[in-house]
Amino acid sequence: MGELKGRDLLTLADLSPAELTELLDLATKLKSSEVAPMAQGRPPVLGLLFYKASTRTRLSFSVAIQHVGGSVIDMPLNATQVSRGEPIEDTARVLDRYLDVLAIRTFDQTDLQTFADNCEMPIINALTDLAHPCQVLADLQTVKENFGQLAGLTLTYVGDGNNMAHSLLLGCAMSGIHVRIAAPDGYQPLPEVVQQAKAIANGQSDVICTTDINAAIEGSNILYTDVWASMGQEDDAATRMPIFQPYQINRELMAIADKEAIVLHCLPAHRGEEITAEVMEGPQSRIWDEAENRLHAQKALLVSVLGLV
Ligand code: CP
Ligand code: NVA
Repeated sequence: MGELKGRDLLTLADLSPAELTELLDLATKLKSSEVAPMAQGRPPVLGLLFYKASTRTRLSFSVAIQHVGGSVIDMPLNATQVSRGEPIEDTARVLDRYLDVLAIRTFDQTDLQTFADNCEMPIINALTDLAHPCQVLADLQTVKENFGQLAGLTLTYVGDGNNMAHSLLLGCAMSGIHVRIAAPDGYQPLPEVVQQAKAIANGQSDVICTTDINAAIEGSNILYTDVWASMGQEDDAATRMPIFQPYQINRELMAIADKEAIVLHCLPAHRGEEITAEVMEGPQSRIWDEAENRLHAQKALLVSVLGLV
């Protein structure tokens, strides 16, 4: 994975399809191994600059870097001078002198890009309003572990056309997975991301966006959902509730999918809203494996961008 050394991951499109496949395979290899590649010489230091809450991403990155002999510095936004108006350009140039790799969770993708433009070290998108590429690394790893392959499967994402929908569109298109997004009118994914996914798929796999949930789920191998109101949209949650109610993953919708279908959710989940407790805890759920795989997928990413493999 030497070719990923020093590279940023701002969206999944920063990887080639072959690099994505290699990362997923490395993640699965690291998962089944008691030993991880260890940093030689000075231990690498990972910075986490998070403008939003996080459980999985913060913890899985922190554990992953420690497994490879490095350490982590957690910087919630309000503990930094960025929260008092220090320009991102200045902050980025200073952090670049201290850290070896920086994962950022923020709102605006252009802020993430500004960090990348002002840093030599790898910058990793730990979630923006546009994209959540690290989550989709773990998602695809989970799908591959379950089905033994990716190309030719069908994944249906049900719900808001948000950061998860965007990264799934790209990740599926890069992997040859047919991807269907079922979202209400007004909540479809951004057209430019859909176009980007179609260009990547290049007619080899389907990229479909619809409001018709039943048609989208029919025969699907993977059902995926996410919260109806993302971080930063809390004030809109009550408005969204009735609009999204028909888009709940429940027993009735599961019956339309392939009978071997699995269910994924990036978490955190709202039981009784986007997914029922019965489906979340049911035999087709792979949600807990998916959450575990955040650790393995991000460890694969870290050792690759740090040049440890
Ligand atoms: N799925 C995910 O990114 O979870 P956190 O918000 O807890 O990091
Ligand atoms: N779409 C959600 C994902 C959380 C992991 C959000 O942005 O809040």
